[in-house]
Amino acid sequence: VRVQVKGVDPLLLVNAAHPMPEGVEPDLTTVDERWPQVLLEREAARLLAACIRVVGGEGQIVPVSGWRSREEQQRIWDDTLAKEGEAFTRQYVARPGCSEHQTGLAIDLGLAAPHIDFIRPNFPDTGVCRAFKEQAGKFGFILRYPAGKEHITGIAHEPWHFRYVGTPHGAIMTKLGLTLEEYLELLEQGGVRV
Ligand code: DAL
Ligand code: ZN
Repeated sequence: VRVQVKGVDPLLLVNAAHPMPEGVEPDLTTVDERWPQVLLEREAARLLAACIRVVGGEGQIVPVSGWRSREEQQRIWDDTLAKEGEAFTRQYVARPGCSEHQTGLAIDLGLAAPHIDFIRPNFPDTGVCRAFKEQAGKFGFILRYPAGKEHITGIAHEPWHFRYVGTPHGAIMTKLGLTLEEYLELLEQGGVRV
């Protein structure tokens, strides 16, 4: 008998080499009732809201894209390919089946504005957005695609894309400047001394 428990391991790695595993079912909830279409894993949603509250970002930091089905990722891939071409698409959109948005642990955030770009929301390194970035680690979130690590993540620098990895991992990874790929490798080698 297999007992299927909803929920995703916060350290689950999904990238071009590691597709979203079959049978993993996120336990999804809304992040903010003002944006009812944006869903995240329950614990990630709770901590995201807490971090936004702590920096006074309510109404200013907008959740733009959270959980995506494989089908939605396919639509985003196809649309972006048609509009922006292949080089852009490969840089900013994960292959359908290989997007960590499918885990329910990833969230794109944008600074509130009349028009927010869905693929590349504006998330400046100033004001409330910067304050969020500085607090995110404590709340279990990392900036998932930092500048300078493109060769490891396979994705261009995305200042708007945060990934829930849980605590204390978020704080450790932020402090050490490690991507999820690097952190998991370190854990496999016997862990980190903190
Ligand atoms: N923008 C990220 C890489 C995604 O499409 O999952
Ligand atoms: Zn994203």
